[in-house]
Amino acid sequence: MRKQIAAANWKMNLTYQQGETLTDELLDNEYSLKENHEVVFGVPFPYLGMVAGKTANKKGFYVAAQNCSNKKSGAYTGETSVEMLSSLHIQYVIIGHSERREYFNESDQMLAEKVNLALDFGLTPIFCCGEPLAIREAENQNEFVEVQLQESLFHLSAEQLKKIVIAYEPIWAIGTGKTASSQQAQEMHAHLRSVLAAKFTNEVADEISILYGGSVKAANAVEIFGMPDVDGGLVGGASLVAAEFAAIIRALK
Ligand code: 13P
Repeated sequence: MRKQIAAANWKMNLTYQQGETLTDELLDNEYSLKENHEVVFGVPFPYLGMVAGKTANKKGFYVAAQNCSNKKSGAYTGETSVEMLSSLHIQYVIIGHSERREYFNESDQMLAEKVNLALDFGLTPIFCCGEPLAIREAENQNEFVEVQLQESLFHLSAEQLKKIVIAYEPIWAIGTGKTASSQQAQEMHAHLRSVLAAKFTNEVADEISILYGGSVKAANAVEIFGMPDVDGGLVGGASLVAAEFAAIIRALK
């Protein structure tokens, strides 16, 4: 059974104290998580240890870094390696978010290097893909996203690929309040799964969790997560409000 995941991406928001309060509020709730449900807190680097400590004994709760270096170690001032994350017992790392691709010029090749390092050190990459508005308007989104997978994931073995989580985040839906319709999300997720099935196997494609991201809220999570190929969400703005994200966790199918 595929994992169903509610992942928070706090991005560059909240002070340490606000992050602590939000984590405590979320962990105080009751969720009745199923065996295949996971909750992931994607928090800023300085808060990783704090959130990892609070979630350590909570079944089904994990922590993600929002980025990692594409270098293993060495003289790269200001960078954070996956080995450092692994030594903090961080289980997930978000790789290739559109904000990193766009504002920090992260190339497909660089993302492939990050994916390799994450897998080498036992972290699960949450690999992000998604098209900008102009590509959607030209109806080229399927090809665009397919190339993103090809360039950063297709060098992996089937065994490696099975360890990856994919997040489809159409850029036009991020932080805009304009979510993809559940139908649009389903169509793209089914497309991504068929691309993976063609390159690897149906069995491998069936095992990969594909999250939707882009203006997920408590009010639309049940409908979006209810689609057959949507395995939860990667949530920005709504993950900063305890009651909202708690409801999103409860929306996992
Ligand atoms: P919003 O939920 O704020 O649209 O952000 C989505 C996102 O980028 C999650 O990674």
